[in-house]
Amino acid sequence: TLFLEEAGILAHEHYEGDQHVLRLAAPKIAAKAGPGSFVHLTCDASRPLRRPISIMRSDGERGEIQLLYKAFGEGTHLLAQRRVGERISTLGPIGNGFTVDRERKRPLLIGGGVGIPPMIFLAEEVRRTGGYEPLVLMGSEVPFPFRVRPSQILVPGIPGGVTGAMPLLEDWDIASRLCSLQGYAGCHEGFVTDLARHWLETMDAAQREQVSVYACGPHPMLEAVAAVAKDFDLPCQVSMEEFMACGVGGCAGCTIQVTTESGPAMKRVCVDGPVFEAETIF
Ligand code: FES
Repeated sequence: TLFLEEAGILAHEHYEGDQHVLRLAAPKIAAKAGPGSFVHLTCDASRPLRRPISIMRSDGERGEIQLLYKAFGEGTHLLAQRRVGERISTLGPIGNGFTVDRERKRPLLIGGGVGIPPMIFLAEEVRRTGGYEPLVLMGSEVPFPFRVRPSQILVPGIPGGVTGAMPLLEDWDIASRLCSLQGYAGCHEGFVTDLARHWLETMDAAQREQVSVYACGPHPMLEAVAAVAKDFDLPCQVSMEEFMACGVGGCAGCTIQVTTESGPAMKRVCVDGPVFEAETIF
């Protein structure tokens, strides 16, 4: 079910690197949203210009959703100017999100850039469910928009060992590591997939059987993550980023080719995805 809500802005925080955290009162969407789903919202009150933005947190009881986005085009720059108290026409939750593999208790969550927020959502979800030991790896070329805190969580196979990429994960006792190719305080200099490989190499076969991989981010990163998952024979779900116009399945502007049992098929990222089994795409 899809809802259209005039969502009130409860908070709008602005961080370095044109990153913004938007908290919206959208009770119907909040009650139904899951990790990997997104909203399509109007950026400017006077124009029907909408942008798809993935959901970072959702609190069904309080009726709130939280989005973390980076302003990089006309729409998102207009969105960044919206103020607390204004209302934003919000359509959602859209898309088929991640399905947590209940058999595998060590989920590996990999987010790159704007693909990080859905991983935060997924991390919170597995924590709420309980019984999982997740590791979150995040690749970002701009410092994460929250203060990085040193952490006591040590992860075998992760060089440097110390994690603590963001307070949320830290508060939830979830091991995490930020990676960047340029390097900045608190991050690992290199690719997320290198750390993923290191981590998996420290495990024996029985431990590896507990791992499932979930990823969201730019295409080359997803391809590299899918290759790691394949090398270690792990199930892997990827959330695809594709240009979206209508966001609700009507324009076919977001179509990609996937492999199905009956051969190649065209699927719309917005409504058939955005999450797909990696082996059907790469
Ligand atoms: Fe229009 Fe997906 S964006 S069908």
